[in-house]
Amino acid sequence: MATRDYPADGITVHWDSIRCIHSRVCASALPTVFHPGERPWITPNAVRADELAATIDACPSGALRYTRTSAAAAAESNDVAEVEAPAVTVTPTPNGPLEVLGQITVVRSDGTVLRETKRSYLCRCGQSANKPFCDGSHSRAHFVDDGLGAFSGG
Ligand code: SF4
Ligand code: FES
Repeated sequence: MATRDYPADGITVHWDSIRCIHSRVCASALPTVFHPGERPWITPNAVRADELAATIDACPSGALRYTRTSAAAAAESNDVAEVEAPAVTVTPTPNGPLEVLGQITVVRSDGTVLRETKRSYLCRCGQSANKPFCDGSHSRAHFVDDGLGAFSGG
């Protein structure tokens, strides 16, 4: 786990570099806050906490999380562990990883538990340096697959 904290007024942003699939959803939504390639790459005080929280909620991989630090919302966070997920679904995303929604445990071939999670993205392009998780390498590899598959049922 490589999580870094970025405190701001009323909110602390948490970013897990291992989970990030470099979709740039965050940077597209809030370019004044998220600057991939710069240090620090997150400057959370550039916008209001509510705006920041809404963008973090849209992070597809769960790499971004937050904790509210104001008195009024001290217990609020977007920790995906709190989300109810009664069933597991696995969806190939177009030109990208397998999206797995629902409680799963990812283990190595030697039985070591890598992650217990309710949302994860697993590499299907073969290029990730962090297998079995996606690390965004599919974009650099120009991986192309519409996610519809050739399976015809049965
Ligand atoms: S996975 Fe989340 S943190 Fe990583 S670039 Fe995409 S939106 Fe940002
Ligand atoms: S699918 Fe993202 S790195 Fe392979």
